[in-house]
Amino acid sequence: MKIAVFVSGSGTNLQNILDLIQNKTLDGISVSCIVADRVCLGMERGLEFDIPTFLIERDKDLCLNIDQILDPNIDYIVLAGFLSILTEDFCRKWEGKIINIHPSLLPKYGGKGMWGHHVHQAVLDNQETISGATVHFVTSQIDQGEVIVQKSFAIESGYTIKDLQAKVQKVEFEIYPQALKILLDKRAK
Ligand code: GRF
Repeated sequence: MKIAVFVSGSGTNLQNILDLIQNKTLDGISVSCIVADRVCLGMERGLEFDIPTFLIERDKDLCLNIDQILDPNIDYIVLAGFLSILTEDFCRKWEGKIINIHPSLLPKYGGKGMWGHHVHQAVLDNQETISGATVHFVTSQIDQGEVIVQKSFAIESGYTIKDLQAKVQKVEFEIYPQALKILLDKRAK
């Protein structure tokens, strides 16, 4: 199963996926290319693994330009902290083939502006007792596509944004590989 990974930030989920492919935990999956919409650590991680890595300018033609360099035979586009909003045309073209990871229990705390610390701050403000992360299919409606895997954890009293970030990252490192395996198994059937 060939995937393209899109990044904008630190790329820790990308690193986790690359490590698991390297140690054969994610056998049968390869990263064909990495797309970044800005210079970021995620991009550097791709280059370290000698994976074709493309930096595409964040302008109105971003999705058209991404489509130019994407191998049409890839199986999935894996968004791993990609901050640009994909156009409706792009989402329609790749329908059922784009997945994303989100740092909350969707449908809660999703939508425009809900990323990173904004999500965790809202979770704390609302005195939630659980949080978690979600892997879902991407549609043109932000964070609303079908859920593939979701996992929660309990929020203990005194938790800060940093605590939530650490807990969510741990969950993300579990569920993104799980979601990829689910898609791989589905493909084999
Ligand atoms: C993750 O928390 C993910 O849920 C969100 O962006 C963050 C990416 O982190 N979509 P990293 O770039 O993989 O470190």
